Amino acid sequence: MPFNQVVSVASVRAPDARHAEIIIPSPEIARQARPGQFAMLRPEPSNDVLLARPMSVHAVEGPAGAADRLRFWIKVTGRGTAALARLRAGDRVRVIGPLGLPFELETASDPPWLVAGGIGVTPLHFWAADLCARGVRPRFLYAARHASELVALEDLRRLPLDLHLATDDGSAGERGLAGDVLARKIDAGLRGSVFTCGPEPMMHAVARVAHQRSVPCSASLENRMACGFGVCIGCVVWRRQSGEQTARPVRVCVEGTLFDCGELGW
Ligand SMILES: Cc1cc2nc3c(=O)[nH]c(=O)nc-3n(C[C@H](O)[C@H](O)[C@H](O)COP(=O)(O)OP(=O)(O)OC[C@H]3O[C@@H](n4cnc5c(N)ncnc54)[C@H](O)[C@@H]3O)c2cc1C
Ligand code: FES
Repeated sequence: MPFNQVVSVASVRAPDARHAEIIIPSPEIARQARPGQFAMLRPEPSNDVLLARPMSVHAVEGPAGAADRLRFWIKVTGRGTAALARLRAGDRVRVIGPLGLPFELETASDPPWLVAGGIGVTPLHFWAADLCARGVRPRFLYAARHASELVALEDLRRLPLDLHLATDDGSAGERGLAGDVLARKIDAGLRGSVFTCGPEPMMHAVARVAHQRSVPCSASLENRMACGFGVCIGCVVWRRQSGEQTARPVRVCVEGTLFDCGELGW
């Protein structure tokens, strides 16, 4: 059962005008949140009809075994994210969560590929930290248009994972799009199931690369969400699971956010 709380922001750090890292104290949500889950966030009081916005949990923090804070990274894309990025320490924020299903890794011999595009890094960072803590060393491809958009790089560098960087303009890591760089890595022998989160065209390209090489691929979808807990039917996608004749609608917020790309027809 998700919690619905109004709490005071602990701290905000903004490396540039388009990104903000926000830490929110919530022992109840932090102790329950699993990698892949998200929360709906909204500044309070809200003087207009602004809906809460879905944000993946980037990390849970606190004393060992007693996590009590949630960390989010926000990229400003419109009114709601701008309002969240304007929050300051002590400001009040509504937080509803944890929402969505946790990510799961089936036993596999090869380390998985986590492929993040831009701000899609958040759920994959949380998952990578959890996998590392359980002795799995994932391969992590972090891609963005430019080095300045690799906002969570320091967090990833602290983890014992196999980190690969790519930028469209070559300002950090390999020059190239995420799909092309992933193709080169797999073709060089680094096989492993692929899990991706990022802009939809990038996830399509990653899914195509994986499909062409018979590598399983799942995508964490970031569809627009109004409620986040299954009521508004605003986040539906069509999925056809094996054995089903036709595709049927599923709600990303309760049956996802992670889906097998083959079942989405990608
Ligand atoms: C489960 C989930 C987890 C997410 N995690 C994060 C996160 O950790 N950090 C983060 O910065 N963002 C995350 N997002 C995306 C974030 O919720 C949207 O960017 C935000 O809701 C946009 O609200 P806005 O009012 O700023 O933009 P709006 O004013 O509503 O829209 C501005 C522009 O952004 C586009 N847009 C709006 N929502 C989305 C969306 N979901 N996907 C793609 N384009 C969109 C619109 O089409 C429009 O062009 C997540 C989304 C989901 C569903
Ligand atoms: S966001 Fe309302 S049903 Fe998914």
